[in-house]
Amino acid sequence: MKRTFKLSFFALLLAGCASTPDTANLVAESRQTAGGLIQTLGGELKAAMTAGGPAQAIGVCKERAPKIAAEAAQRTGMQIKRVSPNNRNPKGVPDAWENEALASLEKRLAAGEKPETLDLHGVVNTPDGKVFRYAKALVTQPACLNCHGATEKLSPEVKATLAAEYPNDKATGYSAGMIRGVLSIKKAL
Ligand code: HEC
Repeated sequence: MKRTFKLSFFALLLAGCASTPDTANLVAESRQTAGGLIQTLGGELKAAMTAGGPAQAIGVCKERAPKIAAEAAQRTGMQIKRVSPNNRNPKGVPDAWENEALASLEKRLAAGEKPETLDLHGVVNTPDGKVFRYAKALVTQPACLNCHGATEKLSPEVKATLAAEYPNDKATGYSAGMIRGVLSIKKAL
């Protein structure tokens, strides 16, 4: 029993070391890019909410979120998007890796890990070669509830705007502390 544990422990360590040199830079770059995106979008969202209330700020999420991500993608050469199993943007559906990442991040959050640092990465084999993957948990904060909280608590304007712009919206009913989705980064190796 003890021996097996030791062996698998060293196997894990070795596996960890083997992949570190390849991905360490990418992990650092992904963290930096994700942090920057969250800060930029958060700042614009806050400003729009203060200026015109949450119904006005919906436009920031709709227009600016994909643009900010596209700008960062162009700068870094990485594919960047936000996804959620309860997606609002019809294109925000997670793939298999993202769903697994989300499940694992949810477990870690439940086990007490800090939301700010909740991320994970990996390298997956695809028919087109190896791909670096990264996911950062986007945890629901009180301000997010204006647009992602329980439907009965949304303002009538927010409800009406969401109904008009996102007829298939699944992204309500959240409470603070829940993972709303992930910021997902991909790069072919
Ligand atoms: C003013 C309303 C508003 C607020 C506040 C808001 N969101 Fe959103 N959120 C949206 C809209 C609108 C979309 C769809 C954007 C699009 O079309 O790409 C969205 C999409 C998302 C997505 C992409 C997945 C999906 O469902 O399409 C995530 C993740 C997300 N929001 C997380 C958050 C988090 C975390 C907060 C708080 C820090 C937050 N949002 C605050 C309106 C809002």
